[in-house]
Amino acid sequence: MARIPQSFIDELMSRIDIVDVIDARVPLKKAGHEYKACCPFHNEKTPSFTVSQNKQFYHCFGCQANGTAIGFLMEYEHLTFPESVEELARSAGMTVPYEGTRAGDKPRQTSREADDLYALMQQADDYYRQQLREHTGRQQAVDYLKGRGLSGRIAAEFGIGYAPPGWDNLLKKLGSSAERQKQLVTTGMLIEKDDGKRYDRFRHRIMFPIRDRRGRTIAFGGRVLSDEDQPKYLNSPETPLFHKGRELYGLYEARQVLRQIPRLLVVEGYMDVVSLAQFDIRYAVATLGTATTADHLQQLFKVTSEVVFCFDGDRAGREAAWRAMENALPVMREGRQIRFLFLPEGEDPDTLVRQVGKAEFEQQVARAASFSDYLFNRLSAQNDTASIDGRANLVEQARPLLAQLPPGVYRQMMISQLAQLARIDEHRIETALSQTKPPRQRGEAGERQPDRAGERSRQPQHRRGGGQDRQPFSPVRRALARLLHNPALAPEAGDPQRLAQLEIPGIDLLVTVLETLRHHPNLTTSAVIERWRDTEYARHLEKLAAWQPEIDDEASLKHEFTAAIESLDRLRLEARYDMLMTKSNHGNLTPEEKVEIRQLSSQLFH
Ligand code: UTP
Ligand code: MN
Repeated sequence: MARIPQSFIDELMSRIDIVDVIDARVPLKKAGHEYKACCPFHNEKTPSFTVSQNKQFYHCFGCQANGTAIGFLMEYEHLTFPESVEELARSAGMTVPYEGTRAGDKPRQTSREADDLYALMQQADDYYRQQLREHTGRQQAVDYLKGRGLSGRIAAEFGIGYAPPGWDNLLKKLGSSAERQKQLVTTGMLIEKDDGKRYDRFRHRIMFPIRDRRGRTIAFGGRVLSDEDQPKYLNSPETPLFHKGRELYGLYEARQVLRQIPRLLVVEGYMDVVSLAQFDIRYAVATLGTATTADHLQQLFKVTSEVVFCFDGDRAGREAAWRAMENALPVMREGRQIRFLFLPEGEDPDTLVRQVGKAEFEQQVARAASFSDYLFNRLSAQNDTASIDGRANLVEQARPLLAQLPPGVYRQMMISQLAQLARIDEHRIETALSQTKPPRQRGEAGERQPDRAGERSRQPQHRRGGGQDRQPFSPVRRALARLLHNPALAPEAGDPQRLAQLEIPGIDLLVTVLETLRHHPNLTTSAVIERWRDTEYARHLEKLAAWQPEIDDEASLKHEFTAAIESLDRLRLEARYDMLMTKSNHGNLTPEEKVEIRQLSSQLFH
């Protein structure tokens, strides 16, 4: 496999102009320092798609799509990475120099490995479907599906299959070599015991393939045929292909059938999605046993402008709804609607639609409560709005919630509504909100819940806000954001290696970016991002590159950058001081260390 040298990408990124590349496909309008258009990746009426010429980076505030010119072509024209590079090189009159494969050819290898895993999942998928047609015990599975009202056509559309009873069906079928077996373990299809023995994860179950945006099968959910068996549903664990906090069951299928998706229903179960499809309600998706995350919502709002959550009317359902509301706050804005539908107790969408049919079900959906009604009704129910105390309490409870709404018309309207309800001046609420810190972001992007296969979990997913401007930024992120805004700031940080010992999240990324810029001082922001394409850092870099300073002048950026580095230096000195203090408590400081500790103490505590 040929490989494109990094130096060529650097050069290409400095030669082309992302504004030309995008403008040729999506006409841009100049707006201040930047260029704008209606986003080509989601439906919108007012432009939130922004292209920065400085950073050579695009970002949509509506759907959070972002990337470099290469990334844009990959998304917009569905090109592969080398194809996008070719295209850009052609427009810049450059020729792409390919290198032969080398031992350290990491990214290519990784993607080939991933290709293998996808292919294997496809084979597993084919196998289960074939078993539903051919296995001697197929009748029981077919009867089960019929009993649940599914036609062959819908079952086929969703790729439903059957894992026959037995411990080694898939193992024998697909695990022909040691390497293949290892891959089957990696994709969660086989379970490996401590003694190294391997066996099929899914046995005697109806199989629901979980497909990604591109329709590739990345995981399965398996349902028992008889309700005495446990657990009712078994799901693939987290694997390199499958992160359940990100995937939505049924989204691919909905997009296949519908060209326009005016609304999406979020339901709880596989069977709810499939059953609604059977009744020609093709716009249902399910989270996979987790709460709805901000990540889920971003994906949903890329394809629709209205999301309706369907919850059971029971206590668990009400709690899940409140959590979904909380997770949705950071992505709420004008043009996006979220509504809440509570089903009668004991019903789920599957049982309900079978009772009442399509028309009545859709009427209920149409009557679902709006986001603001849901939020304020619940808060009003908890507080006596006739009393001053009750209203004050209500404002206190609403404050941390509204503080998470991104700035904009929607937030303004929510503030007005709260003001009316609490009979207090809007400005007072705004002042209060500006003094409210949004809750600390627990967990960085990339962190997720441990999977507990087969167990239903309704724990809240770690929140991951959309616009990072509202988040309390750690010094590492503050530094990185400014650095990506202007890579020429790098020398201000001094020798990055001294920061490497700090044990705080993201420090290794900051240090490597600083090191890279020391050796390649002329890299553009886009070239920096391209260097970490296909690595775990890519998402962080892209998010940070989307950051926009409030005051965009060189002096304040430089000041903020050095201030962030100073905070890191302080943390470093504190850590060193703590270490020496511990040592000194054991009475074994060297004379040099004694001097050092005195210096540190005067530096830190003067
Ligand atoms: P429910 O228990 O509500 O089941 O689980 P359901 O969807 O109504 O299933 P049917 O109608 O009995 O077939 C809802 C979702 O929770 C997850 C699955 O994603 C399921 O679709 N779940 C449930 C599990 O992961 N494991 C379980 O044991 C149960
Ligand atoms: Mn059900």
